[in-house]
Amino acid sequence: MLKNLITFKQLPLSNTLLTDKKESVNCYDLNISFDENTKLVSVVDNVEPKFLFPDDYVYDSSQSKTMVKHFKKCALKLHKRFHPSSVLEIGSNSGIFIKHFNPDTTVAVEPCSNFAEITEELGYKTYPKFWNTELSNEIKESFENGFDLISASNCICHIQDLDDCFTAVHNLLSDRGVFVFEDPSLIETMKRNSYDQFYDEHAHIFSVTALEKLLERNGLFLFDVEPLSVHGGSNRIFASKTETEKTDRMKEILKDESDYGLDKLSTYEEFAKRVEKSKEDLFNILKQFNERGYKVISYGATSKSTTVFNYCGIDDYLIQYITDTTEDKQGKYSPGVKLPVVSPEEGFDETVDVAFLGAWNFEKEIREKESEYEKSGGLWITHVPEVRVLGHKEFVHEPWVELDE
Ligand code: TYD
Repeated sequence: MLKNLITFKQLPLSNTLLTDKKESVNCYDLNISFDENTKLVSVVDNVEPKFLFPDDYVYDSSQSKTMVKHFKKCALKLHKRFHPSSVLEIGSNSGIFIKHFNPDTTVAVEPCSNFAEITEELGYKTYPKFWNTELSNEIKESFENGFDLISASNCICHIQDLDDCFTAVHNLLSDRGVFVFEDPSLIETMKRNSYDQFYDEHAHIFSVTALEKLLERNGLFLFDVEPLSVHGGSNRIFASKTETEKTDRMKEILKDESDYGLDKLSTYEEFAKRVEKSKEDLFNILKQFNERGYKVISYGATSKSTTVFNYCGIDDYLIQYITDTTEDKQGKYSPGVKLPVVSPEEGFDETVDVAFLGAWNFEKEIREKESEYEKSGGLWITHVPEVRVLGHKEFVHEPWVELDE
């Protein structure tokens, strides 16, 4: 029942930055498929998790003020709504969410040992392992009553075998427990043409329609969905072991997904055409900037921009380098196209004319922080929801930018 939707040819591992420009990288075709049975949109032929989430994994969610605030607010809401007496977080990263819960009654699971060490040091019992039924059985030996809250953020979409993942959750959820997780939303990805949500780590981009079916066949019942603005539009999913009444907002989201056609193959065929156009537009506009001698850089060495740069064939001729606040990324080269990554202090200066929003999902935070850049004529370029130039009104007008034939 699997239909191929798009193939991004020869992409490198999205988060594996190179220390030496001469280093060779293995590339593979990223095939996106649609399961007509479950309506799930996934990456097929996945890379083995141990290569994607190594012991020196670089993505640190605490780098963004937006995310720090987001998870604080989320934790407070969950405390208030469910009063959990015990908590388990799957994919705790640097502890951005878990630190709002009592270490004596909270457990972390984090396969990347560099981050597992951080939460362990913060006082949380941390299992430095991948989430699966085997691990859930091991945890159950010490926590036989299970947990009142099992939480995961931007993590469940990384797990290839969802049946095993949800069985493991069911195994450790207390009878009154709630499973709460958030991940990028498929309908928002389609509406924003943000095809760069597809990269190796994102084994799936979820619709609520597909999740309802997949959870249910593993004994978990979805009862609420909260739409979120983070990561380019996400959904927070609420499920429990017993069937309860579904909230009105969840019913509305399911209706929106059906109206948009997320259950039909033709919707994805149209999306694939828009992706092809976005690629041409971005390449052409960067070529025009280049011909006019503009200095173009990228802001945020994201996994998403690995898909964009490699798919669109953007090398250091069109974008000179990338700035990123993550120290572990600085001094390295982006995967595939090998753009140098430098700190903002080193690379985001008055010589920059245009910056590509590699971290477009933090547009608001970044543009607020870099308001001086815009005031002095600096431009931004983004491909979401279509290729366009942003900045102060008097500078944005570029008569030579012709996107439509
Ligand atoms: P994110 O968009 O979460 O990425 P991914 O596609 O990898 O999941 O990552 C944001 C990246 O951008 C991260 O490496 C930190 C960087 N960043 C900056 O350099 N400056 C900023 O102001 C912000 C918000 C992020």
